Amino acid sequence: MNELLIKLEHALSPYAKQFAPEGSEIKAVVHQWGHAIAYDNDIFASSKGADANEILSRLKKAKCYNSAKQFKKELRDCINLNAADNPEFTFIDLFAGIGGMRQGFESAGGSCVFSSEFDKHAQDSYFENYGEYPFGDITKIANEERNHANWIDAIPKHDILVGGFPCQAFSIAGYRHGFNDKKGRGNLFFRMAEIIDLCRPRAFLLENVKNLVGHDKGNTIRVIKETITQDLGYSFIPFVLNATDHGNIPQNRERIYIVGFKGESNWSAEDKVRLDDILTHQFQIPEPIELKKTIFNILHQSQQDKRYYYPDTHQYFNELNSTIVSKKSVYQWRRVYVRENKSNVCPTLTANMGTGGHNVPLIRDDFGIRKLTPEECLGFQGFTETFKFPAKMAMSHRYKQAGNSVAVPVVSRIALEMARLLKITRD
Ligand SMILES: C[S@@+](CC[C@H](N)C(=O)[O-])C[C@H]1O[C@@H](n2cnc3c(N)ncnc32)[C@H](O)[C@@H]1O
Repeated sequence: MNELLIKLEHALSPYAKQFAPEGSEIKAVVHQWGHAIAYDNDIFASSKGADANEILSRLKKAKCYNSAKQFKKELRDCINLNAADNPEFTFIDLFAGIGGMRQGFESAGGSCVFSSEFDKHAQDSYFENYGEYPFGDITKIANEERNHANWIDAIPKHDILVGGFPCQAFSIAGYRHGFNDKKGRGNLFFRMAEIIDLCRPRAFLLENVKNLVGHDKGNTIRVIKETITQDLGYSFIPFVLNATDHGNIPQNRERIYIVGFKGESNWSAEDKVRLDDILTHQFQIPEPIELKKTIFNILHQSQQDKRYYYPDTHQYFNELNSTIVSKKSVYQWRRVYVRENKSNVCPTLTANMGTGGHNVPLIRDDFGIRKLTPEECLGFQGFTETFKFPAKMAMSHRYKQAGNSVAVPVVSRIALEMARLLKITRD
């Protein structure tokens, strides 16, 4: 681990302990305080008595902090991604996974002031790449009771709430129970709504599987829309984008995105006087762009580690060998048969690839038949090679994290548009 972050943990952990919600690690508080101090953002739990001056004096005592400039530079240097030097807006990253949404919003000039993700392995990857451990279970932070155990007011002030809330409860592959999902996943939307209600960000971006629209005969999306517009007073702009058409990424990945702006649930196109101020009216859904990248821009041409190849002793080798014939397509193992993706793009990556042997994209290269590597999967989500999994991360977790993520260039385009609009009116 980076030396600065180690020093930071030593200096701040004793003080941070009292501000770590149940289900979150103390180091999440420490790291996220560090970033807030560096970027002069609101700190986590200031509403609960956490004191930025106390944090600063502890950092100085531990010789982590000499000047604002030095501290920011050192902290930036330990992160391999490009958070803006002088951010134009702040955002929070909920259901953060490995930070695909974060990358999109950072590239649009944003500064992340809070992140939450409860999968331990995804947390490790997040830390490795953004120098910050995310907070844990969001239901422990935004719990159903608005009592002392509720940490919503501890979340730093932010302009945009970003949340790729889990799709299990809504997807065809999942349980189809929507808001009544027994495991409570469906209710995560309501936890997010609670955060919007209390923090009142200027805008939000939600992301989910395309099937959200048809789920439960349209009931699920109706409840989401009603909650957003009637209960929260935000506008509701849903649209479906495909990574191939809108992100110059050769992966067939259709996702629904929902954007909303504060206080704009009741705007009307007839209301000509106010129209220039209505961000919802001015929001432009990204137009399709030409797909210039091909699968060969992403696939590695060299021989890969032997673990990715099917040996000829494998029980399905003959079947694979006879069906996976072209070197120009990505194939997908569908449990009982292999499907060629004829459109020369990668099929939709899923969270369960790499487990149980299904949904693993396969190719034939000069050395045999093999699975895509997790790094190639990340490439098909638009991640650059600067992203690194922690060295000891198991393969199954790498695939899951890559499949769960988002097509970063698509998110970047939405984030840029939101940033453009937030500049028009200042809160
Ligand atoms: C569809 S993924 C989002 C991935 C993310 N957008 C990215 O780019 O990597 C949903 C994530 O929500 C996380 N999650 C589910 N329930 C959660 C909870 N109660 N608290 C925090 N994170 C949760 C899952 O572990 C998963 O990583």
